[in-house]
Amino acid sequence: METGKKKFLKRGVDYPIVDGARTLPGKYYHSEEIYAEEIEKIFNKFWIYACRAEEIPNVGDYKTIQVGDESLIIVRDKSNQINVLFNVCSHRGTQLCAEEKGNFNTKAIQCPYHAWTYDLSGKLLAAPQMQESEKFSKVNCSLPKAHVHEWEGFIFVSLAENPEPFEVQMEALIGKFADWKMADLRIAHHIRYELNCNWKLILQNYQECYHCLGVHPLLSELTPVQSAQHDFSKGAVLGGFMDITKERGSMTMDGEAAAPPVCDVSGDDLQRVYYYSIYPNLLLTPHPDFVMFHHITPLGPEKITNDCYWLFHPDVIKDKSAQVGVKSAIDFWDLTNKQDWQVCEQMQVGTKSKRFTRGYYSGREEILHILDQELLKALGHEDPGS
Ligand code: FES
Ligand SMILES: [Fe+2]
Repeated sequence: METGKKKFLKRGVDYPIVDGARTLPGKYYHSEEIYAEEIEKIFNKFWIYACRAEEIPNVGDYKTIQVGDESLIIVRDKSNQINVLFNVCSHRGTQLCAEEKGNFNTKAIQCPYHAWTYDLSGKLLAAPQMQESEKFSKVNCSLPKAHVHEWEGFIFVSLAENPEPFEVQMEALIGKFADWKMADLRIAHHIRYELNCNWKLILQNYQECYHCLGVHPLLSELTPVQSAQHDFSKGAVLGGFMDITKERGSMTMDGEAAAPPVCDVSGDDLQRVYYYSIYPNLLLTPHPDFVMFHHITPLGPEKITNDCYWLFHPDVIKDKSAQVGVKSAIDFWDLTNKQDWQVCEQMQVGTKSKRFTRGYYSGREEILHILDQELLKALGHEDPGS
C-alpha cells in the first residue's frame, strides 16, 4: 500500500517553479458570486470532512453540519450504520433538527411542524392524517441522503449524486498515517474559533511557513522554518512536515512531548510534525504524541468557523497525571492559532482595498500558487496569468 513516506516533492520536478507567480485577485476572498460557485463546485461536489465517529457513538446520536445552504444530520442507526440525511422535512420543507448535536432518543426523527416521523435511515414511518394515494405514498417521501465514508475515525460526506470514489480523491491519504491508529484516538479538547475571513486564507496560511519567523516565535524555536518540506501532493491532499529540534520533543509550551508516542509511531516520525490539508475543509496535523486538526466551515465569503480538536490516546486522557502535558499542547496551539487568525483577518480586510490588485508569491509560497491553480480549475475560471 502506498504510504507516501519516502516521497518528497522536488521544486521544478513535482511542481513547477513559477517565477513571478501572482496571488489571486482580491475578489476571490470577498465576492458573494465566487463564494456561491465555490459551494456549488467544491463543497457540494468533493468529499468533505463532517465529524468524528466518536462524536456519535450510540444508536440515535447525531450531529448536524452546515454546507453552504444545506444542513445535514449525521446519525447512527440501529444497525450501527452512519447515515447522512438532508435536514429538511419532505412535507413542507421545515428544518427537522435545529440542534448541533444530541440523541434522537425515540429512535426516530420527528418534524416539529406536523409530526411527520422518519426512522434513522430517513424512511418516512408516519404522516398523520395523510391518506395514502397514488399521488402520495410514504415510500416516495424518505429524507434525501448524502454519501458517507469513514477513514481512520473521520467521517467524510459527499453531496454529489455520483461522487468520485473516496479512495481516488484521497489517494495520498490512504495508509499514510496508519501508525497513529487515529480511529482509536479520542478528542481531549475542542475550541471553536469564529473568524472573519475567507476559508481559503486559512488553507493558505496552513501551507506556508514564510510567515513563521515573524508571526510564531515559539513555533520557530521548536521546528526550524528551513526544515519545512512538502512530501505529497495528489488529488485533494497536500502535505508536508517540519522537523522537531528537541529529541522526543513536540509542539507544546515547553517543547517537551505531551505524552508517549501515539500507538505505533516510530523512526523519523518521532521527530516530525506533519501538516496535511485535505481539501477543502480539513487540516490534519499529526504529531508524534497527539493529533491536532481543524475543521473549517465557510459561512459566507468573509466568515468561517474553525473548529480545532486535539486527539490523544484514551490512556492519556484517562491518566490524571498526564493532563499537564495535554494542556501544554492545547495552550501551544491555541496561542499559535490566534497568531495565525490575526494575520488572516487582517489580510481579509486588506485585500478588499481597491489599491490591492495582486501580489507576488515568494519562493516559499509555491504551494499556494498550486492551491490557486486547483481552485481555478475546480471553478472553471480562466487563469489570470502572472
Ligand atoms: S413540514 Fe414537516 S411535518 Fe409538516
Ligand atoms: Fe501559522
